[in-house]
Amino acid sequence: PYSRGSRQKDLALSFAFLLVVSLQGEHQRRLYKDLMANYKPLERPVFNDTHSLTVKFSFSLMQIMDVDEKNQVLTTNIWLQLYWNDYYLQWNQSDYPGVTKVRFPDSQIWKPDILLYNSADERFDATFHTNVLVNSSGYCSYLPPGIFKSTCYIDVRWFPFDVQRCDLKFGSWTYGGWSLDLQMVEADITGYIANGEWDLVEVPGRRNERFYDCCKEPYPDVTFTVVMRRRTLYYGLNLLIPCVLISTLALLVFLLPADSGEKISLGITVLLSLTVFMLLVAEIMPATSDSVPLIAEYFATTMVIVGLSVIATVLVLQYHHHDPDGSKMPKWTRVILLNWCAWFLRMKRPGEERVRPACHNKHPRGSLCSMDVSASATAPHTTNGNMLYIGFRGLESMHYAAAATSPDSGVLCSRLGGCGGEDEVLLPTGPTSSVGSLEPDLAKILDEVRYIAKRFRDQDEDESVCNEWKFAASVIDRLCLMAFSLFTILCTIGILMSAPNFVEAISKDFFN
Ligand SMILES: *[C@@H]1O[C@H](CO)[C@@H](O)[C@H](O)[C@H]1NC(C)=O
Ligand SMILES: *[C@@H]1O[C@H](CO)[C@@H](O)[C@H](O)[C@H]1NC(C)=O
Ligand SMILES: *[C@@H]1O[C@H](CO)[C@@H](O)[C@H](O)[C@H]1NC(C)=O
Repeated sequence: PYSRGSRQKDLALSFAFLLVVSLQGEHQRRLYKDLMANYKPLERPVFNDTHSLTVKFSFSLMQIMDVDEKNQVLTTNIWLQLYWNDYYLQWNQSDYPGVTKVRFPDSQIWKPDILLYNSADERFDATFHTNVLVNSSGYCSYLPPGIFKSTCYIDVRWFPFDVQRCDLKFGSWTYGGWSLDLQMVEADITGYIANGEWDLVEVPGRRNERFYDCCKEPYPDVTFTVVMRRRTLYYGLNLLIPCVLISTLALLVFLLPADSGEKISLGITVLLSLTVFMLLVAEIMPATSDSVPLIAEYFATTMVIVGLSVIATVLVLQYHHHDPDGSKMPKWTRVILLNWCAWFLRMKRPGEERVRPACHNKHPRGSLCSMDVSASATAPHTTNGNMLYIGFRGLESMHYAAAATSPDSGVLCSRLGGCGGEDEVLLPTGPTSSVGSLEPDLAKILDEVRYIAKRFRDQDEDESVCNEWKFAASVIDRLCLMAFSLFTILCTIGILMSAPNFVEAISKDFFN
């Protein structure tokens, strides 16, 4: 009995429910019929035609989808919000119980023709036409979503530390301010989905009134400005840091020894890799000559620095591999490079003590000469000993000892030491004649030894000329290293820091 009773109750309930539903459906149908009976979607729905219809306009920014710097197009996902009162769409709620709101497809009732003025879309109006929601006091809410492509002047002067301001100008295409009064409501960004490339700063809006020549009527529009800041991390990691590293590598060119033969190739490689990065930048940037982007400026400066360093390296190599038979170093070059610059850079000539200085330095030679004399005084006994152990100096002193008896011994001393000047004078006749009579074999050996000594001396002289050039090369190298390091650091700091929001970008994107 219980089950039968409950079943009856269930049945009754479902019947009542069906009845209610059908009743409500009936009210709705009647309401649609009543509302549409005399409705013309072309009429502006106002009580008095001289009155203006107020349309409240707002805007929900959902997402910044793309900022195309090259084509100067901003793509955004936006939900528009339009609210107005339709005088002909009001009803008494108690006449149609249960019907609080009705929906109309967009073509059935009047709608304001609000469009995005700076649209770059193929269809121009990119909104999806949704239903219009109307409540019993005739209040219409129309919220068409859309993916808007808008033209936007993207100023890449401070790329990648730039802040872009893109305007979105909305207004009625045909109605003037006296018939359609557009009012702005602040933009809503609560539903905004963060973008990886751009930080949304703010979306301020303003209402403008424009007057055209034709009429006194104002034409209002609402302009929202999407202010966004580029996030720098990506470009910092992919463009700036490599560029800084590469330009640092360019400085290593000056540290590389000239004998390694890699100086030029390192410089050229650095130049080429910079070119590759510059091409990457050029691909992103619009082909505009309005302003040079910060990063392009930086790359160009770095390329100039690297190019100059290659030129400097060529100069260094030219100095380093200078032909010893070629010209001597010009005097001013010697003074500037070997004296001033070397002193300024605190560089010492390598092996200054080891290499025998050229003949212009007389005093050490004089002392050597006197030392020879003093040695020769004790020498004579040893010279008659084992010939194998007689060195070059021993021979010279022996020669002096042999010639000591001749009256021109003092002159000979000075000649033998090579202090007097040209060795050619010393070689051919004078000594040979004096010694030849004494011991012919010894004289021959002496000649040979003298020849060897001359060769060595010539070689030493050549070597010292070479060393001078090499030292000059290393001075230039060091000078360039200092100058280019300073220049690179100054350029890097000066150019990158000149961006207005550099500090903000670095602190927000790199350290948080
Ligand atoms: C419409 O408004 C104007 C001025 O506001 C007024 O002069 C006119 O009488 C009104 N018309 C009607 C039908 O109310
Ligand atoms: C709505 O209709 C009810 C009954 O039909 C009436 O009493 C009421 O005054 C009406 N309200 C308006 C605002 O017309
Ligand atoms: C219709 O909506 C508007 C705006 O939300 C509101 O002010 C008005 O009271 C609503 N009318 C009714 C009958 O609920």
